[in-house]
Amino acid sequence: MKSRTPVLALLALGLLAAPFASLAADGDWKRGRIYYRMVCTACHTEKAGGAISPTTKSMAEWAAYIQADKHAKGKDSLKYYVSTKYRDSIKATNKAAAKFGDVSDEELMNDLKAFVTKGAKDGDAPAKCS
Ligand code: HEC
Repeated sequence: MKSRTPVLALLALGLLAAPFASLAADGDWKRGRIYYRMVCTACHTEKAGGAISPTTKSMAEWAAYIQADKHAKGKDSLKYYVSTKYRDSIKATNKAAAKFGDVSDEELMNDLKAFVTKGAKDGDAPAKCS
């Protein structure tokens, strides 16, 4: 009986993780693309020395990057740049931030993830940022 416990635990974990995996896959990549181009790329062009396209990473690298949540060489958080708080702070000058002001942080992060996964160098449709 004892030896079965790890198997059951793994099974339970798998069942728990399944809805999250499908949620990520269901993200609205089109909305993610708009946000990426109009918010992420807008700042990169201005402050990171140029656009950073989704093809700079593989699907696995993007997943790890988002998971780690260390943006700009660890100086700040990627989640912050997707948050309603950040959107609110730039909405006066950024149409995408204003338009998606009501979308939850989780939902928008999912959309962004769907876009970079699709646009990754080994994704379905490798994408440049503009
Ligand atoms: C307010 C400005 C700003 C916004 C908004 C922004 N970034 Fe960045 N990002 C930077 C800067 C600056 C760097 C470069 C840091 C360096 O090289 O020292 C960077 C670097 C990156 C990198 C290269 C790896 C790293 O973290 O150093 C990736 C990938 C990235 N950003 C993704 C994103 C995504 C995705 C978004 C939108 C959700 C986003 N960024 C929003 C300023 C921004």
